[in-house]
Amino acid sequence: MIWHNVGVLYSRIAFSVSYGSVYSESSQFTFSISVFNLSKNFIVGSVFFRNKYDVFDVFGTYKRLYRNNFIGSRTITFDRNKLKIIINNLLSKFFQFSIWFNSFKLIKIRSISNNKNMQNRCYKGFNIKPENDFLKSRKPVLVNNDCHVILAAPTKGTEGYFYKNSGADEMLFIHEGKGVLKTVYGELPFSYGDYLIVPRGTIYQISFETENNRLLIVEAFSPFRYPKRYCNHAGQLLEHSPFCERDIREPQNLTTHDEKGDFLVYIKRDNLLYPYHYQYHPFDAVGWDGCHYPFAFSIHDFEPITGRVHLPPPIHQTFEAHNLVICSFVPRKYDYHPLAIPAPYHHSNVDSDEVLYYVDGDFMSRKHVEKGMITVHPIGIPHGPHPGAVERSIGKEATQELAVMVDTFKSLWICEDALPIEDANYYKSWMD
Ligand SMILES: [Fe+2]
Repeated sequence: MIWHNVGVLYSRIAFSVSYGSVYSESSQFTFSISVFNLSKNFIVGSVFFRNKYDVFDVFGTYKRLYRNNFIGSRTITFDRNKLKIIINNLLSKFFQFSIWFNSFKLIKIRSISNNKNMQNRCYKGFNIKPENDFLKSRKPVLVNNDCHVILAAPTKGTEGYFYKNSGADEMLFIHEGKGVLKTVYGELPFSYGDYLIVPRGTIYQISFETENNRLLIVEAFSPFRYPKRYCNHAGQLLEHSPFCERDIREPQNLTTHDEKGDFLVYIKRDNLLYPYHYQYHPFDAVGWDGCHYPFAFSIHDFEPITGRVHLPPPIHQTFEAHNLVICSFVPRKYDYHPLAIPAPYHHSNVDSDEVLYYVDGDFMSRKHVEKGMITVHPIGIPHGPHPGAVERSIGKEATQELAVMVDTFKSLWICEDALPIEDANYYKSWMD
């Protein structure tokens, strides 16, 4: 009987985490039932909340009215999950927006140098100059209408302001650095190798314990989700998935801030930053439920899939969004067929621009690889191991490589910030 109860408890945890982090279109109907059941009995401290409505402190502990802040996108088609935050002071904030907003300039943050690239290119990402401000440090290098690939070397976080991306979901990959992502949902501590997935509309601050920080950031103009083939019909990760719900870290240590003052929030939309001033601290939630929240996943928790013969890059897939995938190349055993050649075959990927960001370890198929290097191989252009790499790979049993790949199904354009860090001779590196 005891074990039976444990089993029920476990399945409830897995259920809520799964729906909380999967943007699976096939799970939407079941998901909305899940939210209803959760929020109907939603309790924060001694406060009992009812579904859908502004709620009172029915037990009289706080003697105040709390309000729902329901966050949802694509609500009409129900193809995206929702969040409900129980929050203070919401109406006062909106009032303050309209008064202060028009008096600030807009800041342009993207400029494109080349929108017709058909050359294999390489950029030395660690040559991006450090900046002492998080937003200023973000340098878009490769962009299209589905995503922005950004490199950043912030020595400090969001000091004195908050940030919200209203136009894109963000993936922050922590290459170097340690710190905390603070949000209205609570805190996400992060360190080397963490992916931080931040759904659009999330107000956050980021702080670092370290000065030498290196980030790879992807802004996607559609939600990040787990690959559909990893999920069952209800959106839970299947047994063959290289990670599971236990590897997903949710926000913790929710702290409710009640301060009144002048709180600057930079809101990003359509490549512009809009400075807003909030009258109350943006992190004034007393609780939340639903399935639209930031989470962390470490690349070191990605369990590689291996085989007797070479398996193609989809086995490394970690996340996907509309017209792009994110893959994790992690330390793993090479192909173990007696006649297997560990180096990958040469290929022309006619479906996507391939972007590979080198993180750590050795890279058997490439020469002259440095940490932070980022290569882009355009749609349809042949590429593969450098000369000699196939021969050198024979007999090797394992690799320690660590890399993140971003494949986009539409052409990437090269930004001005990428020009100073380009290795202009990279396209010749396949010559004998
Ligand atoms: Fe490739």
